[in-house]
Amino acid sequence: MISIDVIRKPILADLEAFDAFVGENFSAEGELLQDMLTYALSSRGKGVRPILTMLAASICSGHAGAECGAERVCSKRTYLAAMLVEMIHTASLIHDDVLDGADERRGKPSVNAKWQSDRAIILGDYILARTMALGMASAQYDLVSYVGSAMATLCEGEVLQSQHANSFDTTRNDYFDIIYRKTASLLGVAAALGALSVGATKEEVDRMRKFGEAIGMAFQIQDDILDYNRQNNTGKPVNNDLREHKITLPLIEVLERVTPERRTEIVDVLRRCDTDESAVDELQRIVDEGGGAALASETMHAYLSRAMHLLAKYPASPYREAMMNLCTFIAERDK
Ligand code: FPP
Ligand code: MG
Repeated sequence: MISIDVIRKPILADLEAFDAFVGENFSAEGELLQDMLTYALSSRGKGVRPILTMLAASICSGHAGAECGAERVCSKRTYLAAMLVEMIHTASLIHDDVLDGADERRGKPSVNAKWQSDRAIILGDYILARTMALGMASAQYDLVSYVGSAMATLCEGEVLQSQHANSFDTTRNDYFDIIYRKTASLLGVAAALGALSVGATKEEVDRMRKFGEAIGMAFQIQDDILDYNRQNNTGKPVNNDLREHKITLPLIEVLERVTPERRTEIVDVLRRCDTDESAVDELQRIVDEGGGAALASETMHAYLSRAMHLLAKYPASPYREAMMNLCTFIAERDK
């Protein structure tokens, strides 16, 4: 099984420099705001987005690379690109936990659980405001412009998702549209900005964007599969998508294979999932018996094959290998 540490290895020095860069740039006035900010920044996850930005920058720079990653390859422009993306992601999850009423994130209390929703919203806004201010002060408007569009796309995805959760009518196409906007678009920008930050050609920036989007689709499908896996290690409560009335790919696969009458029955069970834990158990059983997770996994692998295919254009290097490993990691991950 591929670990995230193996993927980080060729860019280790750059990732350490990136963490220091974030620490230097992100602080807040006022004790409460600083406490909340420190908590949010220290509870960041695996760091898939900065890893992707750094790997895209490294592979596009044409640097031969070293397995050990002892040497820094990236410049401050790449760190800035990675920071813009990572902070938007951090803010969006703080807001997402408020919208979902989620008490836990990565095995720890969410910001809203610790400090209430109103303060969590302001913390998310503060991170966004500081991010954009840092971007503008750097005068690297090409990077900032990508990130501004990505923020709008995330919001579109959230609103679409909430609309469909209320109408219980999510089709396969709706689902792909939602996950493209809420997850894949930002991973696409993470990779594209890595390329742009080292002056790559438009063709290369586009290729990296496609790579990021393909692994982003796969990443979200795996996230939705893990929501049906009661042994997962995500640090999030299992089956929360059902309690939030979200119809995701494992359930769509099952719904597409039943009669219209059975579909109505299953949707009626879903309607009860927000208040009735026996309905949650019943839907978990329906998806297990219909093989929903395995079917969704086939689609996830198709996206990963597309991503790996895009890497064939590059000569072998530790960075290309790490990007291949990132694809495998997404498929294998249980957290
Ligand atoms: C997690 O999805 C949520 C997102 C990927 C996007 C959230 C976006 C917003 C709340 C819009 C606000 C945008 C900005 C820029 C502040 P999930 O709920 O399926 O995953 P989870 O299980 O990890 O919560
Ligand atoms: Mg959520």
